[in-house]
Formats: sequence, structure tokens, C-alpha cells
Amino acid sequence: MISRYSTWRAVRTSAAIRLRFKVALLEKIPLFEELSTKETHQIARLVTEIKVPAGTKLAKVGETGGELFAIVDGEAVVRTKPGRTTVLKAGDFFGEMSLIDGQPRSATVEATTPSRLLVLDRRDFWHVLDGKTAIVRKVMQTLCRRLREAEEAG
Ligand code: CMP
Repeated sequence: MISRYSTWRAVRTSAAIRLRFKVALLEKIPLFEELSTKETHQIARLVTEIKVPAGTKLAKVGETGGELFAIVDGEAVVRTKPGRTTVLKAGDFFGEMSLIDGQPRSATVEATTPSRLLVLDRRDFWHVLDGKTAIVRKVMQTLCRRLREAEEAG
């Protein structure tokens, strides 16, 4: 007979395995690469892993945005209002703009292949940025790069 103790231990073990798995996924994302092991474990507790089929719209222009997405596997296309497209690949993140300024989504982002992503909601996003200069720097650098590329594209 399975005792209550062994059931509880099995639940704890599977939670620990899921956490380790999420840590391994987070380690694939450059945004999170300069963190300590402790910080990576803290963030692993906050992120949700999702798997989506090709064609899934993960953000829609004009809608309220409440999450940051990081692509673990797969590809997505960003369609900005003037009809310009940008491809995002494994390791890239998106959805940060609405979290930062509270404005609606600036673009539609659609998975173009079956994809696995990590999702962080608004409150946890700010919690993660708090005191982690390496992440803040990377978010700012990405914003600058996207602005420059958009300017160059005209
Ligand atoms: P957000 O506006 O929250 O939702 C759409 C996301 O698409 C946006 O955040 C950025 O992460 C991303 N995005 C918007 N414009 C560009 C661009 N020109 N190049 C790459 N990504 C973009």
C-alpha cells in the first residue's frame, strides 16, 4: 500500500523534476544567462511552459498585453502595423513593450512552427527585473536594436 508519506514524497519529487526542467529551459534563453543558480531557480518558479502549434497568435496588435514570452524552441513572426515583418527564433523574447509602458501590443506575433515558450506575467516580470541589472541591460539593448532596425527599414 502506498503510504501518505510516500505519496507526498512523490509529489515533491515530481515538483522538483519540473523545476529542474524549467531551469534547463531558462538556461537556453540569453536574457537569463547571467543569473546566479539561485536567481535562475527563483525565476523558474515564476515561468509557465507552453507548447503551441504553428499559426498560434501569441500577441495581437492593439490588445492589452500581460505577458513576456521567451522562445525555447520554434520560430515566430512579428507583424508591425506598417506591414513589416521580423522573424524571432529560439532564444529571443517578445512582449516586453506592453509590460514596460502599459500600452497595447505594438505588433502581432504568430508562431510559424510548433513552438515551446516560457511565459512570465506582468507582476513577475517587474519582480524579475528588480535588482537584476544584467536582465534590465539586455531588455534595453533589445529595445534599442529593434528601434534601430525599424528605423533602417523605414
Ligand atoms: P509588445 O508591444 O508587448 O507586443 C508585441 C511585441 O512584438 C513587442 O512587445 C515586441 O516584443 C515585439 N516587437 C515589436 N516591434 C518589433 C520589431 N520592430 N522588431 C522585433 N520585435 C518587435
